[in-house]
Amino acid sequence: MRVLITGGLGFIGSHLVETFLGAGWEVVVVDRAVSPYFTVPAGVRLVEAELDNRGALGTALRGVDVVFHLAWTGESLASSQDMRTHVELNLLPSLRLFELCEEAGVGRVVFFSSGGTAYGPAETLPIPEEHPRRPISPYGLTKTTVEDFLAMHGSQFGLDYVVVRPSVPYGERQSPRGVQGAVAVFLGKALRGEPIVIWGDGSVVRDYFYVGDLARGCLLAATTPEGRQAFNFGGGNGITMNRLVELVRQVTGRAVEVRYEEGRAFDVPELVLDIERARRVLGWSPAVAIEEGLERTWRWIRSRG
Ligand SMILES: NC(=O)c1ccc[n+]([C@@H]2O[C@H](COP(=O)([O-])OP(=O)(O)OC[C@H]3O[C@@H](n4cnc5c(N)ncnc54)[C@H](O)[C@@H]3O)[C@@H](O)[C@H]2O)c1
Repeated sequence: MRVLITGGLGFIGSHLVETFLGAGWEVVVVDRAVSPYFTVPAGVRLVEAELDNRGALGTALRGVDVVFHLAWTGESLASSQDMRTHVELNLLPSLRLFELCEEAGVGRVVFFSSGGTAYGPAETLPIPEEHPRRPISPYGLTKTTVEDFLAMHGSQFGLDYVVVRPSVPYGERQSPRGVQGAVAVFLGKALRGEPIVIWGDGSVVRDYFYVGDLARGCLLAATTPEGRQAFNFGGGNGITMNRLVELVRQVTGRAVEVRYEEGRAFDVPELVLDIERARRVLGWSPAVAIEEGLERTWRWIRSRG
């Protein structure tokens, strides 16, 4: 099996690389940057290119069975600040990638959407895949639009695909200095002795889950005979931000201070994904408890100083 991962040097992509190599698969990575956290393992072919580099992508796609499309610029906050750039950098390059996949005869495209933003405010909890998609950020809207184009490629041109909608993965190699990823950011603050900033009153609920569990789910999503559908991946249970802070204090043994700031309009109040479909179809469930996952992430963050 030969797999190509766009954005394979990033937080999630790097875990896919390791998991797929462990399964004996051949891995090709397309990424624009060198990662400060991830050294490309021997045997992986790295193509340093932008997602809109047709020539480089066309060549890299030769002989590829499955493409994992993760490369994405910006998240909810950045997308709200500059919608047009967000759409330009992500939407058209994704559509071009799908066309190139068809030309190259790729067997399946697995697109990384976003369980946290695709559905918008929940009508039911936990949120199943068939819940209406009403994103409230340009990031979520661009993700669902790409999902729809991919489904159209499936129905019109026969491209096989899977959509992955993760809730809130965390773990090693998520930047502790980023704006996304409460776990890494909170642990980073704990390490540096800085106060944690929470938007809102800390009652926002999310179902955090360990990135290694997500990578294992992706392995199954690549090969399932039941493609052409979306899969939620998440922790199964939600916790509040305030509870996460308690866990961070527990795991780090540090008295972390919290500063509350005004809530952000695009943060949905509660996000817990229904992971029944992944359980039933893929035989997947999250295996790493939050305490254990936080320990692993804390060890990694401390090792980086
Ligand atoms: N991290 C999360 O909490 C989360 C949750 C749900 C979905 N996702 C999605 O999963 C995917 C991976 O997320 P991540 O957290 O690993 O992000 P990341 O920022 O750590 O990694 C993204 C990688 O893509 C590369 N990249 C970005 N734009 C590119 C371009 N135009 N050309 C070439 N390379 C490009 C970057 O260099 C980086 O290595 C993204 O699509 C993201 O939207 C992430």
